[in-house]
Amino acid sequence: MHLWFRCQARILAIAGLCLLCSGQALPAVPAGWMLTRPQKQDLTKWPECNRQPNFERWLRSFHTVQKPWHLALDGVASEEDSCIWIHDVVEMLLRKPRDPKVISVLEVCHKPMHHQGSSGLEDATGSYCDDPDFDVMDEGRWERACPLVPGIVAEGALNPCASRFRMIDGRHRICKLKMETNMAISHAPFFVLNETEVLSLVVPNCSEDSAGPPTKLRWEDFEDAWHHILNDRQAGETRVDSVVLEFVRASLPTVLRRAPEEL
Ligand SMILES: *[C@@H]1O[C@H](CO)[C@@H](O)[C@H](O)[C@H]1NC(C)=O
Ligand SMILES: *[C@@H]1O[C@H](CO)[C@@H](O)[C@H](O)[C@H]1NC(C)=O
Repeated sequence: MHLWFRCQARILAIAGLCLLCSGQALPAVPAGWMLTRPQKQDLTKWPECNRQPNFERWLRSFHTVQKPWHLALDGVASEEDSCIWIHDVVEMLLRKPRDPKVISVLEVCHKPMHHQGSSGLEDATGSYCDDPDFDVMDEGRWERACPLVPGIVAEGALNPCASRFRMIDGRHRICKLKMETNMAISHAPFFVLNETEVLSLVVPNCSEDSAGPPTKLRWEDFEDAWHHILNDRQAGETRVDSVVLEFVRASLPTVLRRAPEEL
């Protein structure tokens, strides 16, 4: 019995090590933490988390990949105007659904770091987020941003911090979270793409006056899904695709808390 137990423990330990070395050991939520819906005090602090997100503007937005935020050392992905439509990122997350994962914000390189001379992850004060004149942030987006909505990152993708994760979407949210908690935030949930996935989404041109974003997705479906979930209706009562419904559900504001100690 005793030997059997030791053997099991050893197998488990080896399995754990293998998971670590294969680089896939990102649990959805690390031990000791739990994700909950925002409580009253969170919504008092961030009333914008009660508002419906602007899905239309969000799906029409894009992530530029100019230096030093280029995504590849050569080829199309480093061309001057290269970019990634958030629309395409979301489409991929619908096609290959996944839950957000809790990761360390100390490993997430995000704009406006290394932009117009601003500092990067090494700056523990987060001064790169301090933008009172809204030179590198958009005032309207800042005000509407709910910092509890998961951002989107790419793991293993080139970034100017040489960090494990590169943020693709959510700089207003993460900056707000950092600044309005006095940099006390250590972890947060993010949707994680891999490098291959993110590189496959790079296109040469997302300028405002180009033909516009791809139109596979309808922002109205995201609004419908949001209302449906908030009103707690049964799945059968909506015509919205269940994949959109699950994505919107996974994107709702979430708070990371210490789990109660196990007895
Ligand atoms: C990236 O994700 C895709 C699924 O979208 C998977 O098929 C592929 O193996 C992954 N690549 C790596 C390097 O993990
Ligand atoms: C990008 O969009 C602009 C404006 O529509 C257009 O003039 C230009 O040719 C486009 N470039 C590419 C590479 O598609």
